[in-house]
Amino acid sequence: MQRLIRGTALISLATAAIMHATAAFSTDEGATFQQPLTLENSPFSSEREAVAWRQDELKDLERLLRQLRFDLVNNRDARGAAPRLVELQQRATLEYFLPAFIEGTHGRGSDARPAIWQEWDEFAAGFRDLEQKVAELVSAAEQEDYRAATRAFSDVSLSCRSCHRAYRHN
Ligand code: HEC
Repeated sequence: MQRLIRGTALISLATAAIMHATAAFSTDEGATFQQPLTLENSPFSSEREAVAWRQDELKDLERLLRQLRFDLVNNRDARGAAPRLVELQQRATLEYFLPAFIEGTHGRGSDARPAIWQEWDEFAAGFRDLEQKVAELVSAAEQEDYRAATRAFSDVSLSCRSCHRAYRHN
């Protein structure tokens, strides 16, 4: 129980940090993600850098989820999973990914479809959906409910795939 509480506290701490970072972003930069960023108001120095960053991060996210599935589904080890769950909650978010989808960064080395920037709200909603599914996974892990965690993994995967179907080539 002690262990579980420590894991939960870690997760809440990380969530608070993210909320803080998000608030800072929206006030400092005036960006509320209602529109895609342009290169000038993005944190990147080139479009190529933004594309490479999001591709690397998405690959990392995939690896992280694979590792977590191993922790939770195979090993039923919520304590072992706790630090990785914190990382997942930090990274599988709208605030984290949207800035890298700079207006019009499709083509040349990217699998992003141009529809992203025509249907920006729907695209953003895909990341909100992912956040919700990740929250369910975290809550299942906190309760050490491994069956619910297994279900939550499927929901997370569906969320990834549904965005890819609409907004990623192939
Ligand atoms: C809201 C949309 C959206 C969601 C949700 C989403 N992705 Fe993606 N993903 C994309 C887009 C768009 C690309 C193409 C990026 C590019 O090439 O510029 C992509 C690319 C990828 C890539 C390929 C990166 C590379 O090497 O080129 C991986 C891996 C990936 N996503 C994994 C995931 C996983 C795992 C999830 C769920 C946990 C996920 N994605 C959720 C939109 C999404």
